[in-house]
Amino acid sequence: MSLTIDYTAMFEDAVGRGNGVNRSMLNGLNETFNQTRAELQAGLTAGILPFWDLPFDDKSIERVETFASKNRPRFRNFVLLGIGGSALGPIALHGALNHLQHNLLPDDRRDGCRFFCPDNVDPDLVGDLLDTIDPSETLFNVVSKSGGTGETTAQFLVIVDLLQRRLGDRWRDNLVITTDPERGFLREFSAREAVQSFSIDPGVGGRFSILTPVGLLPAAMTGIDIRMLCRGAGALKRPCFAERLEDNPAAMLAALLYLSQQSLNRPIQVVFAYSNRLYPVADWFRQLWAESLGKRYSKRGDEIFTGPTPVKAVGATDQHSQVQLYVEGPADKVFLFLGTREFRRSVPIPGLGMSEDTVEYLQGAELGELLNAERRATAYALTRAGRPNMIIEHDRIDPMHIGGLMYLMEAATLYAGGFYDVNPLDQPGVEAGKLATYALMGRPGYEREREEIDKSSALGGKVMTVDIR
Ligand code: PA5
Repeated sequence: MSLTIDYTAMFEDAVGRGNGVNRSMLNGLNETFNQTRAELQAGLTAGILPFWDLPFDDKSIERVETFASKNRPRFRNFVLLGIGGSALGPIALHGALNHLQHNLLPDDRRDGCRFFCPDNVDPDLVGDLLDTIDPSETLFNVVSKSGGTGETTAQFLVIVDLLQRRLGDRWRDNLVITTDPERGFLREFSAREAVQSFSIDPGVGGRFSILTPVGLLPAAMTGIDIRMLCRGAGALKRPCFAERLEDNPAAMLAALLYLSQQSLNRPIQVVFAYSNRLYPVADWFRQLWAESLGKRYSKRGDEIFTGPTPVKAVGATDQHSQVQLYVEGPADKVFLFLGTREFRRSVPIPGLGMSEDTVEYLQGAELGELLNAERRATAYALTRAGRPNMIIEHDRIDPMHIGGLMYLMEAATLYAGGFYDVNPLDQPGVEAGKLATYALMGRPGYEREREEIDKSSALGGKVMTVDIR
């Protein structure tokens, strides 16, 4: 197994002076890198950063496997109710590793349950999903680390009500909860009602939780080999602690993206997946990166309003949507391509014997070859236009490689926290929105917030309405 990070086109000798990083910029990060690495190592030793050792938690992996092998044959559907870090990781694993039309395959051609994750409270999304699945053949997994996020709690109430109406006393059989081992409403509920449950280590934040039951349970229930996933992730631990910045793939990834913003004035970081399987991984990374690094305060408490703006794109589709802007628009972006040498499928382009120039060059080639040529071509066009870019390339997209990639990205986020000088593990800005929602929905204890929100809405008046007849 290997992942290659090619960052040649991040340097100024490839993209031109002022457009790329140089040795002295990189050397300037050595001290912060050493300090961050030492802090991460101390956190690991003290047991306050359990994230690093999740791939080796055999007990947790085994518990999930046992549960999955017993329950997979019993259910046709697996529905995950969660949001943010409690949803995007499972969605990424499903999208990267299961058949791309998994839910449409006949039951006997699927290794596990169909997977659905309506990670929103849009009534059309939830209502339309419930129209298409039979609750009696469905296992609902409610996932919330805090056990009280408004969106997940609302979905939980809708589903428990549905199960109680449809299954009577047997409603508990179709529910499993993943939450904090001791705290929060969901933990109390599962204890009180004897609902089966899994725990998330309190030291692992939502967006870092793919290798806890948050990600492992849906993966195992849909047929993904979670042993291999964890093995691939575990293989990255040592490299991600390498002592020299330039030998450390996680720190290098973080350093190059950080320097693009701080030294080259490129705050927009486009994660450009050249594989539909890697696109949901780009989506997961977008949240991981944005929520971890977009912060008002530095670690010491100074106001710094910092953070990159991650954007996701998929090739070749977005070549016909975004690349014009990327190549010729403002020089405010850096590009991280995600690609694979081998695709799972080979779709040859038939040689129909036509001799027109438009078709002849494609005949006898293969779709994966075309897609990878388009990736190289886009990278080349960006480099020529002085736009810094790099690529993480896999041998192939399988559980080991995806485990390795996601672990690498999580580790890079921790190093980036050091470079940006922020705490990558909190999300006070998200909490503020959660509290305001409680206030607007009339939750007791949030009356003062409600008054403040009403006062700010009273400033309204600048409104335009256009009739549509
Ligand atoms: O990454 C995070 O911490 C957040 O995105 C949370 O996962 C998200 O807000 C949902 O929180 P919870 O899992 O507590 O319901």
